Amino acid sequence: MASGLDKPFFSETDTTAPRSMGLQAGGEDVWIDVIRKMDDVYADLVRSQTELEEKNSELQDADTFISSVLGAMTDVLIVCDAKGRVQKVNRKLMEITGKSERELVGINYCDLVCPKNRAQAAGFVSVLASGKSVEPCEIGISVPKGPPAYVSLNCAPRRDQRGRLAGMVMVGRPIDDLKRAYRERDAAREKLDQAQERLLVSEKMAALGRLVAGVAHELNNPISFVFGNMYALKRYGNAIRKYLSALDGAAPEKEMAELRQELKIDKVISDIGPLVDGTLEGAERVRDIVEDLRRFSSNQQEIPETFNLMRLVHTATDWVIKAQRVKPEILIDGPEMMEVCGRKGQVHQILVNLVQNAADVLSGREDGRIWITCTQADGFASVAVSDNGTGITADIMDKLFEPFFTTKPIGTGTGLGLYVSYNMAMKQGGELHAANRPTGGAEFTLRLPVNVETVS
Ligand SMILES: Nc1ncnc2c1ncn2[C@@H]1O[C@H](COP(=O)(O)OP(=O)(O)OP(=O)(O)O)[C@@H](O)[C@H]1O
Ligand SMILES: [Mg+2]
Repeated sequence: MASGLDKPFFSETDTTAPRSMGLQAGGEDVWIDVIRKMDDVYADLVRSQTELEEKNSELQDADTFISSVLGAMTDVLIVCDAKGRVQKVNRKLMEITGKSERELVGINYCDLVCPKNRAQAAGFVSVLASGKSVEPCEIGISVPKGPPAYVSLNCAPRRDQRGRLAGMVMVGRPIDDLKRAYRERDAAREKLDQAQERLLVSEKMAALGRLVAGVAHELNNPISFVFGNMYALKRYGNAIRKYLSALDGAAPEKEMAELRQELKIDKVISDIGPLVDGTLEGAERVRDIVEDLRRFSSNQQEIPETFNLMRLVHTATDWVIKAQRVKPEILIDGPEMMEVCGRKGQVHQILVNLVQNAADVLSGREDGRIWITCTQADGFASVAVSDNGTGITADIMDKLFEPFFTTKPIGTGTGLGLYVSYNMAMKQGGELHAANRPTGGAEFTLRLPVNVETVS
């Protein structure tokens, strides 16, 4: 310890003590007393010095500790006095501003703020002085070259021992990285959405390809009876024309009656109505199928509409089954009418996928059966599609709805049917479940809200 006071001036035994100073009787005691006092004073001085040095060392430790904490802070710290003059900053602020502590201390904190936010920042001191609190806000800190560095700022008052406003402490969390991360996340989400959209389209096209045979068959039926009716009408037209020209030629009544019988004019006339009705019905069916097809293949975002889910179940099943070489038996159970509000084309696509999967698993089997059970309860409509196929093994049960998961041979299945169906059901506020039937085979249940308000 370098106190500079480590040696007393002299002591009782000190031979260097001045001998000449009066050693008269009684005088010696006085000297000894003085020397003792001086020793005490000296000892006190040494103690104080030691304490002072210990305090100093503690202070230095505290200072180092605070500096290390401030230096380690990833947030910006600005401490000001009541006039807004900067008293203390941390390393993060120095990094952002590119200025040293010496350059920053003493300036007004508003000079650190970018021009756009300066007026807002200038009000902080007066807000705190009026006893109110400064709302957390985003402000930009001026950066020498480049755009401001934005921080999410909290501003708290600093008070002296008597509780008066002594200044303020501002802590700002840099948000540029966060903002960038958000932007990147949004861009990634958008890309994902686009990729999903593309998947949706490719799944739809693949499904459409598989359905072509079934749809063609569906169209063939009404078209063939429209043709049949039109040929009959043409024949009837000829008969009527012949009869009318005989009438114009004023043929005798008897001859006319015979001709009327021969040309079956009465039957022709009574048949015309049903023939026209049948033809119209056929044309309407063709129009509906084309409409369904158009909706199915459309890439447009659908607007929710009210439709009869039962009709969709029938069309989807017909389309799939008509295209099967060996047709499974279909048992549809449900009311005639089940109104649902949702995206019709998407629901159609889900149903096609479920029935197609059931048909695939039964492919080539003579005893294949598909049960479709439609029910409605608690604001939800349910369609359960079950089959007497192989069922689903436990190891693939939780993979079914993953994109590209398929157990079908390469080139047969894309593995997108259930993934796309699941997402479409969810987006309509519904759900899609897979299970095994207790008696064997799989069961997929689609649940859809009946109410339009649950459609997102
Ligand atoms: N009814 C079912 N019975 C048994 N397994 C099924 C049934 N439905 C689906 N699966 C299983 O789920 C897998 C995924 O079905 P998903 O519909 O997603 O794709 P995929 O039918 O293989 O191909 P695609 O994209 O052509 O529909 C199928 O490969 C099959 O293993
Ligand atoms: Mg499928």
